[in-house]
Amino acid sequence: MTKEEMYEDIRKWKKEKNAVILAHYYQTGDIQDIADYVGDSLALSQIAAKTDAKIIVFCGVHFMAETAKILSPDKKVLLPNIKAGCVMADMIDEIRLQKYKDEHPDILVMVYVNSTAKVKALADVCVTSSNALNIIDHYAKTGKKILYCPDQNLAKYAMKLNGYNLELWPGFCRIHHNLDKGMVLRAKEKHPNAEFIAHPECRLEVLELADYVGSTKALVNYVSKSDKKEFIIGTEEGVIHGMEKANPDKKFYPLSKTLICGQMKMTKLVDLYNCLKDETNEIILSDEIITKARVCLDRMLELS
Ligand code: 13P
Ligand code: SF4
Repeated sequence: MTKEEMYEDIRKWKKEKNAVILAHYYQTGDIQDIADYVGDSLALSQIAAKTDAKIIVFCGVHFMAETAKILSPDKKVLLPNIKAGCVMADMIDEIRLQKYKDEHPDILVMVYVNSTAKVKALADVCVTSSNALNIIDHYAKTGKKILYCPDQNLAKYAMKLNGYNLELWPGFCRIHHNLDKGMVLRAKEKHPNAEFIAHPECRLEVLELADYVGSTKALVNYVSKSDKKEFIIGTEEGVIHGMEKANPDKKFYPLSKTLICGQMKMTKLVDLYNCLKDETNEIILSDEIITKARVCLDRMLELS
């Protein structure tokens, strides 16, 4: 079957079944091109919370589809490749987080959206890379002790920027954590007219050299607004698809060949095709987990 033939069926089933396709910026170009919405984790969760569709097909990783299910519990939420997880989300679990909470009863638990529903169920507030700085600021002003989990890099960036004192969980994203200062300096030397833009999951030594730091959506918007014509990209290479489409006159260089999230790339167009056709890979969560996990997400959406 050709791509166009698959697209035709997907469009037909979308209408017949009243389904909406959401895709993260790290998905392959052919999936981004057929999606109803392409966005970062915040934007996609806001769409999932508001959609009238009966079925949400979430082209992304497991925690993102779970988040959609928590925010839209009456909808059927499907994840085209059920094995697509997140390396960072797997660095924390509900047993260890509960133990930490028992040992630190007064701490406010701020959980990055890259975490399971069971972990979110134990948190006071959720954040994404789009809103983390504002939400940390909001709670830091109260003087409360905050555990930021699981992404230590974003937390260290916030601490450096605004002088907060956060308790850190030692998690990270392997794709972003792999980048270092030397790579940035070499790329800048090779492309002297390019701006370097990076995701806050990178290490501080990388972020300190960036001309702009932001969520995937913020990075995509930034390159369209900038007068510059060349950019070195410090995040997963999937973002370049949308950047090139919107800015055919500009050039984009991934900072490293390793900037490919194997989990995000597990989902192929054929998985989306089969998943929508057969309505398979449904995300199922207990009512108890949905109710508990919703608290931290609602708080985040209110503050976003
Ligand atoms: P965004 O919140 O920017 O979509 O990032 C999610 C993610 O997994 C980055 O690695
Ligand atoms: Fe998770 Fe990293 Fe992949 Fe984002 S890029 S989904 S944080 S493993």
